[in-house]
Amino acid sequence: MQIVLCDDADHAAREAAKWVQALLVQKKRPVLGLATGTTPICLYQQLIRLYQQKQISFASCTTFNLDEYFDIAPEHPQSYRSFMQHQLFNHVDIDRQNTHLPVCFDGQNPRRVGLEYEQRIAAAGGIDLQILGIGSNGHIGFNEPTSSLASRTRLKTLTAQTLSDNSRLFVPGEIQPTMAMTMGIATIMDARYVLLIATGKAKAEAVRQMVCGPVSAYCPASILQMHEHAIVVLDKDAASLIA
Ligand code: F6R
Repeated sequence: MQIVLCDDADHAAREAAKWVQALLVQKKRPVLGLATGTTPICLYQQLIRLYQQKQISFASCTTFNLDEYFDIAPEHPQSYRSFMQHQLFNHVDIDRQNTHLPVCFDGQNPRRVGLEYEQRIAAAGGIDLQILGIGSNGHIGFNEPTSSLASRTRLKTLTAQTLSDNSRLFVPGEIQPTMAMTMGIATIMDARYVLLIATGKAKAEAVRQMVCGPVSAYCPASILQMHEHAIVVLDKDAASLIA
């Protein structure tokens, strides 16, 4: 695990962007794993800036998002598809056909969707670099504590902690989904590189458990200790219990 200590969230985003830039510049057909949530927004802004400065292109890039809410249409404003369109895809030269999320709605079978998502990742040649955030409970993707470390893309119920953490993103009266399709922990571990970004005090304890704790399904992110190429980019607050 390579830990990159940064002064603040902007600095962390700049450091993380360097890894994505290197992939996009060096690989002919890069496959990028993406995350949603608040943390990667600064990174996506950096990537848009690099694209506008003609330093990177997404023209030959294929993307796979970690997760998508269950039973929510891609066009729904709260879908992760909408988030990605808004935060990144609409602002760069990516081909929408090459962007993938584990969408499961309108009566689709979650098991089939999960299996097909795994097959699409494999058909693309696997993920070169997977971007990750971390939940305050140590989740990666929506692999909540006690998720199998051997899990693959599937339907998961979100914990009360995750629902409470994410409730800030929903206005009163809006329905907050309680289930999501998520890449499994083994799916994430298959990526050739993983790049986890954590910023803010609220992540400090989860970061401590991920870096210093035992490898345990109680802290799904701790499995990254076993990854050959795991990069963890932290701001001072997120690193405050380990540095
Ligand atoms: C998002 C995801 C989640 C988030 C995590 C942190 O696609 O899979 O694991 O990365 O919940 O979310 P933020 O960044 O909002 O604190």
